[in-house]
Amino acid sequence: MKIDTSLTLRQLPETMSQADLQFTVATEEDFDDIMAMSQDIYGGLDYLPTRYTSWLQDTNRIVILARKEDKVIALESVCMIDDGETMLVEGLRVAPQERGKGVAGVLLRFCSELVKSKYPEVKVCRLTRDDRLGPKDFEKYRLITKQGILLVRFKAEDVKSQLSVLNKGKEIQSSSSTSSSSSSSSKCPPVRLDHTAVHQLYLTTDLMQGVLPNLTIIQDWQPFKPVPTTMATLLKKDIDWMVDDVSKPAVASLCTFPYRVPVGKDWYYLNIDMYGKDLDLVKEQFLCHLERHTDTLEGHVMCQMFLDPLLWKPMAEYCQNTLSVELVKEYTEQCVVESDVI
Ligand SMILES: CC(C)(COP(=O)(O)OP(=O)(O)OC[C@H]1O[C@@H](n2cnc3c(N)ncnc32)[C@H](O)[C@@H]1OP(=O)(O)O)[C@@H](O)C(=O)NCCC(=O)NCCS
Repeated sequence: MKIDTSLTLRQLPETMSQADLQFTVATEEDFDDIMAMSQDIYGGLDYLPTRYTSWLQDTNRIVILARKEDKVIALESVCMIDDGETMLVEGLRVAPQERGKGVAGVLLRFCSELVKSKYPEVKVCRLTRDDRLGPKDFEKYRLITKQGILLVRFKAEDVKSQLSVLNKGKEIQSSSSTSSSSSSSSKCPPVRLDHTAVHQLYLTTDLMQGVLPNLTIIQDWQPFKPVPTTMATLLKKDIDWMVDDVSKPAVASLCTFPYRVPVGKDWYYLNIDMYGKDLDLVKEQFLCHLERHTDTLEGHVMCQMFLDPLLWKPMAEYCQNTLSVELVKEYTEQCVVESDVI
């Protein structure tokens, strides 16, 4: 599904001149210009530097730039997902000096027209937002689901030692409970799924229906439907998939491998998407993900967890009081919204 923009780009001179903008397909050479206008984005957690090259190589995706007097002033990427029924909008950004002038709107409409002309079967446009949506937004979009955003930061080695303290505590607890009561039930640890198990659980059973928010897998800001093509895409990524119980899951989570973010030198980003409402199970899976990655990580980590809004407060308290990590910001929300493409 390669998107060929050339025809449509030539077909829309009206839109371009109206907005005094030119649209081009992004190339490797544009990287520095894009980074220059992305300085303050997402509080230093911009994923684009890590993904840019792979985005350009992805045949289901297009990255469009808006230019004014030849200068790059905005970017948007569109990826075709869910068997070509959905256009996923990502990476939207406008240069600081050009914000508030309607540039994002013009770029969004341009990309939408472009996709419609290439993919007449496209039905919906979906995007994930973390800003506060107002009534005007809800005239345009319907809400698919929302998750609370819990952002914490720490030094990898501090959390590593905190985790070993917690583990020692657990060992002592379990050995004393085994010796005091032979009937006490021991909880099973979370299960890390291999590709076959992921495929089986998400595609061949209904077991995830009660776990996934509105049947959506949101992985590092990307909202997908659990359909075969999507799962194939997701399984190509470096992700740890976890559940509490394969035969009857109540909590499931996806964790990225840490990647560098522009917030500072030696800063890594860990993204954990958590589904389900059981606080204890969420805590367990969170610890497992941390354990796995802090083992090899050095430097500083920004860890962002997306979870059921009702679990935000108790998890924030747990992070601060038990793990001694620093809360970076108060409660915010990740909203997955959708509009029909007409
Ligand atoms: C968010 C941002 C792209 C808006 O750009 P802008 O040109 O100033 O946008 P405007 O305020 O002029 O709004 C224009 C349109 O963009 C839409 N828009 C605003 N924020 C948006 C967002 N986060 N996602 C999608 N659309 C958005 C508005 O609804 C409006 O649509 P309309 O023309 O159909 O009414 C810009 O402020 C920016 O680059 N911020 C930093 C990066 C960022 O937060 N990106 C959002 C990723 S979720």
